Amino acid sequence: MIYYFTGAGNSRYVAQRIAKALGDTVAFMPDHIPATVPDNSEPVGFVMPVYFWGIPTVALRFAQQLQLSGSHYTFTVLTPSGSSGDAVSLFEKALRRPVDAHFSVLMPDTYAPMFECGDRAKSEAVLERAEGEIDNVIAQVKARATGDLDPHHGMGKLYTVTMYPLYRASTTRRFAVNDACTGCGLCANLCPDHFITIEGGKPTWRPGHCNLCFACLHHCPTFAIQYGRNSRKHGQYTCPKKMSD
Ligand SMILES: Cc1cc2nc3c(=O)[nH]c(=O)nc-3n(C[C@H](O)[C@H](O)[C@H](O)COP(=O)(O)O)c2cc1C
Ligand code: SF4
Ligand code: SF4
Repeated sequence: MIYYFTGAGNSRYVAQRIAKALGDTVAFMPDHIPATVPDNSEPVGFVMPVYFWGIPTVALRFAQQLQLSGSHYTFTVLTPSGSSGDAVSLFEKALRRPVDAHFSVLMPDTYAPMFECGDRAKSEAVLERAEGEIDNVIAQVKARATGDLDPHHGMGKLYTVTMYPLYRASTTRRFAVNDACTGCGLCANLCPDHFITIEGGKPTWRPGHCNLCFACLHHCPTFAIQYGRNSRKHGQYTCPKKMSD
C-alpha cells in the first residue's frame, strides 16, 4: 500500500507512478485515519509534500494513528520543490518507528503566497526531470534499498527547526475570496480537513490552522481564492500528469 497526501496533485502522481510499477495501490491519508496495515510483509510507502521543511499536519495525524506491525519494508518519498530539510524525522517520530528508506523527488512549487506557480513551461521542465527521479525511487524500492537516500535535504535540521513552527502557527485568517467565485463548492469538497463551508454562495474558512495545502486555491475554476497579498500574481498550479488509482 502507498499512502499519500496532496494539495495540488504532485504527490498523488508520484504515489501512483510508484504503485503502478510495484503492482500496488494508493490510498489518500485523510481518508484512512486511523488505518491499520495488515500484518504481512508487503511494502508500505508514504508519499507527501514538504511544508516549511516539515510535513503536512494531516500527515502527522495519519502517522500518529497508524497501526503498523509486521515485517513490512517501509519507505517515504517527499516531494519538495527545493529541499526537504529534516521533514522525514517528524514523520518517523509520529510513526513511532524508523522507516527503512527515505527518498525525495523535486516537483513544481505550490507555495503561491511566495513563489510563481502559474509558469507552465517551468513546471513542465521540473516534471520532466522528476520522471528520472521517480524511476530511480522505483528501482531502489524494488531492490529493497535502505537508509537515507534523499539527495535533497538542503540545510537539513536547521530549516526544519526554525521554519516548521511558523507553519504550525499559520491560520486560515489570510484566505480571501473575490467576486469571481460562482459558489460551485469545489473548494469545500476538496478540503481534506473540512475547513471550508459555503455560506451565502461563498466559501468561509473556519478559524484555526489548516494544512495550507492550497488545494482550494489551486483548483478553484475561477481563481477566486487568495492567501495574503501576493498569491494572486503567482497564479495557479495543479499537476497536469494524471493516472487512475
Ligand atoms: C505551505 C507550503 C509550504 C511549502 N514548503 C516547502 C518547503 O519548505 N520546501 C520545499 O522544497 N517545498 C515547499 N513547498 C512546495 C511543495 O512541497 C511542493 O510543491 C510539493 O510538490 C507539493 O505537492 P502536492 O501537489 O502533492 O501538494 C511548500 C508548499 C506549500 C503549499
Ligand atoms: S471553488 Fe472557487 S468558484 Fe467554487 S466555491 Fe470555491 S471559491 Fe467559489
Ligand atoms: S482550507 Fe484550503 S489550504 Fe487549508 S486544508 Fe483546506 S484545502 Fe487545504
